[in-house]
Amino acid sequence: MLVVNESSKHETMMGKINSGAQLDSVEEITEDYKQNLLKLMIAQADSELAGAYGYVPWIEGAPTVAEKLAMANIVKDEVRHAKAIYDLVERLGVNVDQLIHEDKMKNRMQVFYEPIKTWADLVMFNFLMDRAAGHQLQDAAQCSWGPWAAAMVQIEKEELMHVRHGETWVRKLASDPLTAPDIQRALNFWFPKINKVFGKAGTQSNQTFRKYKLKSRDNDDVRNSWYKEITPLLESYGLTVPSIDVVG
Ligand SMILES: [Fe+2]
Ligand SMILES: [Fe+2]
Repeated sequence: MLVVNESSKHETMMGKINSGAQLDSVEEITEDYKQNLLKLMIAQADSELAGAYGYVPWIEGAPTVAEKLAMANIVKDEVRHAKAIYDLVERLGVNVDQLIHEDKMKNRMQVFYEPIKTWADLVMFNFLMDRAAGHQLQDAAQCSWGPWAAAMVQIEKEELMHVRHGETWVRKLASDPLTAPDIQRALNFWFPKINKVFGKAGTQSNQTFRKYKLKSRDNDDVRNSWYKEITPLLESYGLTVPSIDVVG
């Protein structure tokens, strides 16, 4: 009986998704849709929180008082993003305390385990990763789960400010002959790692996410749109951009 209910629920749910409508109640989604949605939202929330923790030492490490405030604001934004998404995860019945304390945000993207070692590293990470997240989360802002799409609108606005921050500093360090080698080194270090966060082309999981309109593009299309955006910018600062085939 349960199977029949689940399959008729699936038909109704897919009808709604394919008509372009958004879903917003737990009652109208199947277990499979819910698990796929949770996978994406938990990965985002764990990454937002791990990202915030990675930036914390750079409040102290920032070169000026104005920059300390900028870093503190970025940390606050990232914790807020984490909370906004964890709240949605909790509404789907998941114990968020466990994700944070027992699982130690293990669903974060791999790149968030990498420590940030210098100010040049920090601003390059900020430049490349906040942009990468922006491209990845663009799909979420128009996905079939209404509450997630709505939460993404404010998050995207704040991410845009982070992107500007990274851009200003990368340009600044690249234009000074004393710091240009540091920022090029930081680019060479982060590029392969951040290029990897998009995942492989044509994966089975990506196809499932697209079937449910939780994503709208293949991983490779997202990677290409990121690469097309960063390349002319970095080249205009006099930096050499690694090939898109360099994955760490
Ligand atoms: Fe964020
Ligand atoms: Fe950010």
